[in-house]
Amino acid sequence: MVKNLQDTTTLHNGVEMPWFGLGVFKVEEGPELVNAVKVAIKHGYRSIDTAAIYENEEGVGQGIREGLKEAGISREDLFVTSKVWNADLGYESTIAAYEKSLKKLGLEYLDLYLIHWPVEGKYKEAWRALETLYKEGKVKAIGVSNFQIHHLKDLMEDAEVKPMVNQVECHPRLTQKEVQAFCKEQGIQLEAWSPLMQGELLDNDVLQAIATKHGKSVAQVILRWDLQNGIVTIPKSTKEHRIVENSTVFDFELTEEEMNQIDGLNQNHRVGPDPDNFDF
Ligand SMILES: NC(=O)c1ccc[n+]([C@@H]2O[C@H](COP(=O)([O-])OP(=O)(O)OC[C@H]3O[C@@H](n4cnc5c(N)ncnc54)[C@H](OP(=O)(O)O)[C@@H]3O)[C@@H](O)[C@H]2O)c1
Repeated sequence: MVKNLQDTTTLHNGVEMPWFGLGVFKVEEGPELVNAVKVAIKHGYRSIDTAAIYENEEGVGQGIREGLKEAGISREDLFVTSKVWNADLGYESTIAAYEKSLKKLGLEYLDLYLIHWPVEGKYKEAWRALETLYKEGKVKAIGVSNFQIHHLKDLMEDAEVKPMVNQVECHPRLTQKEVQAFCKEQGIQLEAWSPLMQGELLDNDVLQAIATKHGKSVAQVILRWDLQNGIVTIPKSTKEHRIVENSTVFDFELTEEEMNQIDGLNQNHRVGPDPDNFDF
């Protein structure tokens, strides 16, 4: 079982990816963003998740540089993820988008680059670009996001490199058991986005009761449930006390009964768009 914030899962190509990271969706460029990234690194986070569409890669890069310096650690100790946006899906355009993200972040390489959404008719060309970047050693691992099982099967029909990660919306109201089982069978690591359901689950009675039993917060219970399920998780917060709170999940364990209770909250309910029916 995962023992601390720096523990990693080994992706199918041997790359080590931290189980726990910081998300920065909806955090605009500026001091709050730079500070959140810095503070996370200071408190032991070793993974940061951004995307071109978040329009905050410059601030994330600044936070990374300052955070690494203050913590006295090197770039290799950090795992940085970004994603290619839908408008850039295509062979040349995806390669160009990767270079642009790198430049904004001020980095020499990314640890993980993802296709953000499975836009029909476009993701296979983009995947070829990711394969090229990967084979040329420009990125350590490549993967997808918001891919359903049928998208993964379709992609893998023509792929030379199997995705290492699938990042999907996942929380107690959308437990993603089928996608998880398929990914596990294929050796693809599942990663949860909006693990806290964007804050909407924090007053849930079942979760609250479990949290009280352990002397923990609901957020901590959900994030612990992710880890015990073998799911990489990247909660977002810009507040130092929550960044610390969210990562203090290595000092308790949920029982099998509690894990089942949380699984039982599933309603296949999404807070984000449906990967089978989106128009962007
Ligand atoms: N691949 C994709 O399509 C996709 C889509 C969405 C998100 N993501 C990634 O996943 C990350 C996480 O998802 P998310 O940002 O949508 O939502 P989330 O992590 O589920 O929830 C974030 C919200 O919860 C609040 N919060 C965080 N910790 C808390 C705590 N301990 N107690 C109370 N409230 C807390 C945050 O507010 P404060 O900041 O005020 O603390 C924020 O409003 C994103 O940042 C992004 O990196 C990926």
